[in-house]
Amino acid sequence: KEKQKIPGYDYGTDKVAKSPITLEEWEELKKSALFSEEDVVYLRMSEEILANQVDDLLKVWRGVIFDHPHLRAYDEDPKTHKVDTEYAGAVAKRFGRWVTDTARAKYDQAWLNYQYEIGLRHHRTKKNKTDHGHTLGHIRARDLLAFCSTIVVPMRPFLAKRGHPPDIVNRMYDAWWKSVILQATLWVQPYIREGDF
Ligand code: HEM
Repeated sequence: KEKQKIPGYDYGTDKVAKSPITLEEWEELKKSALFSEEDVVYLRMSEEILANQVDDLLKVWRGVIFDHPHLRAYDEDPKTHKVDTEYAGAVAKRFGRWVTDTARAKYDQAWLNYQYEIGLRHHRTKKNKTDHGHTLGHIRARDLLAFCSTIVVPMRPFLAKRGHPPDIVNRMYDAWWKSVILQATLWVQPYIREGDF
């Protein structure tokens, strides 16, 4: 029920294709990123801390996008350079929900399938399709990957907001880095030549 309220948020539904990666391969990938069960613990600890700060985080992230024409272009009509505000608003709702999903760290087939979907929605395969957006039709892999820093680096003060000791904040921060890098890795799959992923 919680999930149905957000338009286009198709996590756990059959609108989403099966991930080309198996859960066994995902287990392997986690090891490549030094991601352990402890990281799951610290991600889950962050859920409650971040819950009432999601809008502020979105402001920070959106701020970086809107400060830079090459990133803002992904929310603009390529002909008029006008921001498609309806589109950006619809995407922002799902982006907010993603913070919660990342913190919950529930890694099952539905999660894996939705990672594939998120990748496709950045790629020309599905960009603009979910919200009938009128914007540039493809986010470059380089921007998708580099944006990991923009997502995670500003999070530290948000994670520290409840006064946890610095070493605990660091653990949460590291867990977020690992999770975001791992997710971006899964998301770039459609960008990579067949057989090379
Ligand atoms: C969609 C996160 C990089 C622009 C999304 C969604 C999430 C997300 C959670 C919504 C997926 C859904 O439909 O449920 C992230 C993260 C990134 C990243 C964590 C980096 C690590 C970027 C970059 C841009 C961007 C660099 C461009 C400035 C968009 C746009 C959509 C989108 C335009 C909507 C795509 C569509 O469905 O048409 N992103 N994103 N994202 N993101 Fe990103």
